[in-house]
Amino acid sequence: MANNDTIINVQQLAFRWQPGLPLVLDIEELSICRGERVFIKGASGSGKSTLLNLLGGVLSPQRGEIIVLDKLLHTLRGSQRDVFRADHIGFIFQMFNLIPYLSMLENVMLPLRFSRQRRERVIARATPIDEARRLLTHLDLHDALLHRPVTELSVGQQQRVAAARALIGSPEIVIADEPTSSLDADRRTAFIKLLSKECQAANSTLVFVSHDSGLEPFFDRSLSLDTINKAGPLNTEAA
Ligand SMILES: Nc1ncnc2c1ncn2[C@@H]1O[C@H](COP(=O)(O)OP(=O)(O)OP(=O)(O)O)[C@@H](O)[C@H]1O
Ligand SMILES: [Mg+2]
Repeated sequence: MANNDTIINVQQLAFRWQPGLPLVLDIEELSICRGERVFIKGASGSGKSTLLNLLGGVLSPQRGEIIVLDKLLHTLRGSQRDVFRADHIGFIFQMFNLIPYLSMLENVMLPLRFSRQRRERVIARATPIDEARRLLTHLDLHDALLHRPVTELSVGQQQRVAAARALIGSPEIVIADEPTSSLDADRRTAFIKLLSKECQAANSTLVFVSHDSGLEPFFDRSLSLDTINKAGPLNTEAA
């Protein structure tokens, strides 16, 4: 049930990629509270990335309501949704989506170009460069790498750059799409702890998806997509 503390609320959501194709998602209700760190697990192909893209307003559902920070996403036009996302959501994409011709530092500072709100939050405390460096240092990426093109970084380093980019300017919501799949167990644990700590410090809500249920203990709450999604492989007649 949604209440004053709810930051994300989904009601009667149905999504299919194309008319005629079966539903990928059919979710009656999903609520996430402000400041909560939620883990959503699901097998490969179960619809995790699809759900995150719906929550971020990148995709629109065929049915149902998605309310984020009191805004009904489908009432926003495309460009308004882009601004809303830039202001309020830090997205760590499954494939990172770093800009290849920009340096590590430029990639991290990019959201501040698109969101005045996030830029002002940074400027109230530090210069954008100092804040980017602070985040990168916390994520164990040192100054020597700052001006390197991201294409010259290892996958694990790129993943941490993507995290710093999501965190800069303290967006209310950080959405992380399986960002640890290419890391070894030690680095994975360290990464999640750092991400969690940064989200806590900024009072950001963290929504993190993965197929790896070993990560559950690091979160306040864990949900299984198979349980909340009636269109899952165990319930194909929902299509
Ligand atoms: N652009 C697309 N067009 C059509 N179908 C798609 C598209 N993207 C994903 N799908 C389908 O939607 C379903 C859910 O895909 P999704 O990428 O959300 O899964 P996932 O849980 O994120 O998987 P993984 O753990 O492998 O990343 C899959 O059956 C997939 O084939
Ligand atoms: Mg995915």
